[in-house]
Amino acid sequence: TLRVDLSAPGRAISSDLVGIFYEDLNYAADGGLYAELIQNRSFEYSATEQVSWTALSFWELIQAGDAEGSWGLGNARPVHVNNEHYLTLTARQPGDGVGIRNSGFDQIPVEAGHAYEASFFAYQTYNGIMWRGDGVDQSTPMPVTLRLEAANGEVLAEAKLEVSGRDWTRYHATLTPSRPDPQAKFVLLIHQVGSIALDMVSLMPHDTFKGRANGLRRDLAHAIADLEPKFMRFPGGCLVHGPGVRQFYDWKKTIGPVETREAERNSWGYHQTYGLGFFEFFQFSEDIGAKPVPVVSAGVCCQHAGHSPGRGQEGLPMEEMPAYIQDVLDLIEWANGPADSEWGAVRAAAGHPEPFGLQHLGVGNEDAITPLFEIRFNMVRDAIKARYPDIVVIGTSGPFASGEDFDNGWAFARDIDVEMVDEHYYVPPQFFWDNQDRYDHYDRAGPLVYLGEYAAHEPDRRNTLRSAIAEAAGLVSYERNADIVHFASYAPLLARRGHTQWHPDLIYFDATSVFLTPNYYVQQLFGQHGGDRHLDTALTGTVDGAKLAASSVTDSASGDVILKLVNGDDTPVALEVQLSGLSSDRKFTAQRMVLTGPSADAINEDGREPAVKPVSTSTTITATFHYQAPANSLTVLRFNPT
Ligand code: AHR
Repeated sequence: TLRVDLSAPGRAISSDLVGIFYEDLNYAADGGLYAELIQNRSFEYSATEQVSWTALSFWELIQAGDAEGSWGLGNARPVHVNNEHYLTLTARQPGDGVGIRNSGFDQIPVEAGHAYEASFFAYQTYNGIMWRGDGVDQSTPMPVTLRLEAANGEVLAEAKLEVSGRDWTRYHATLTPSRPDPQAKFVLLIHQVGSIALDMVSLMPHDTFKGRANGLRRDLAHAIADLEPKFMRFPGGCLVHGPGVRQFYDWKKTIGPVETREAERNSWGYHQTYGLGFFEFFQFSEDIGAKPVPVVSAGVCCQHAGHSPGRGQEGLPMEEMPAYIQDVLDLIEWANGPADSEWGAVRAAAGHPEPFGLQHLGVGNEDAITPLFEIRFNMVRDAIKARYPDIVVIGTSGPFASGEDFDNGWAFARDIDVEMVDEHYYVPPQFFWDNQDRYDHYDRAGPLVYLGEYAAHEPDRRNTLRSAIAEAAGLVSYERNADIVHFASYAPLLARRGHTQWHPDLIYFDATSVFLTPNYYVQQLFGQHGGDRHLDTALTGTVDGAKLAASSVTDSASGDVILKLVNGDDTPVALEVQLSGLSSDRKFTAQRMVLTGPSADAINEDGREPAVKPVSTSTTITATFHYQAPANSLTVLRFNPT
């Protein structure tokens, strides 16, 4: 029997329970959510990222027809001091053009009739020979062709312009392909003897998510928006504290004009342009109605320090802490300060004069709780609270290790009265069933919980229905305890096929398609059907060890009641549902959404109709009714009792 008490208003819970954890791993930013289609647009790739990479990686030199030319790298006069290298392109004999070709992140998919903005910075280089000998002043503008080429070389779109002058200038043109091609290439050609310097060679679709300039890939952004996340954590994860003390993620490097952002090695072993930076994160959060939850380092690096095996956790030297703390305070002013404050003005100049309304700031990520950490965490937190007492500082419970189970982190957090504590666990599916009562026992007078990273990990790390249903059971227990569990986010969010460092993830994608996992649909059902009061919900008469979990909420905005029922067993379960407080002579139309699949091992295969996705039907319910919960299923039942 599933009994839900509708006669009482229930307990107030977090209406922001389900959100997203975004980390730039698995090519989540460049080659992922960031809509840039050119790979290595600013010639900053290097062997420190991947041994085979150079500043010319992903580019090829073109000498068309009987053209003769060459390319080289410059660093003497960069477009910006943060953007060290640029390309020099020289035509000794123009032929049909000397140029460069880029095939993007594995490929450049283009759609017919869609506009793409091609742009680059350039100037005409002075090579000491002002006259070519044939009487032509080398300062005559350099004719340039921009093209989208099909995989077979056919020209799909073309624009012509001229580069002139000896100062870095941004040039741009719109390319609209005549036909689609998933494997297109971008080409830039010069047509006159002479040379130009080139940097920030970019190709962006016009139809980014919400049409934002320097925007996000539409299909991926929509998949995220469809989760209806109530908050968005960024930029990680381990990326936040990085592999060394001066390798923390530095938000200041990620704002301002893109050509001034200092690209660098991502701690997951590839290149990050920071084209998707803090402005874009905040803007995206706002666009999808999610509260921004940035996370900064607590002044220590990752204890697993990938760059320095064996070195372990290190703290920023004390003399560097004041400047670091100032960066953290500047972030809050940048997000929330008036447009005439020092950092608010930087935000306003980027096109957002209104404050972003930052309420939460994470400090630290899964850090080992050591004196080194504690001292620095306290320094950062005290400075934030002194200046911005209303900002909720989220501390960390430390790394998850069975046995220890966060005891150190929680003891420290309770000791200093942190408002919210970030827990992470990646565990077998059974953990979620065995820990249904985990948060029932958390001290209601203590810090709130932010379950910042969690996922059910199968031994082979596949996104099975079993793992998704286990997470649904976890979410039921978080919802039931959402007076203390304030936020919860599955991790990680995004993964590009062929460039993935971590499995499982919520959303997989390639250049043209997005693949939604069973786990995605669980997050979506909870994201779309949350509430703000939990109703007393009881399951009785279940057999020992049965994998059955339920929660019920009301949503004050709509007045709806939402029941969630999870069956993790391989057999269906027949239930009598009793909704006490409803009059027995009334019938209600309910929306019933059922997520299940052919077996617990079912997965959604790329490019196929998903084996696991929710099916929604309309049904009639009464104060008492019967329902058979399918094997391995999540059922969401939503109705309005008025
Ligand atoms: O989500 C992947 C990684 O798992 C995160 O970067 C880190 O916080 C955790 O260990």
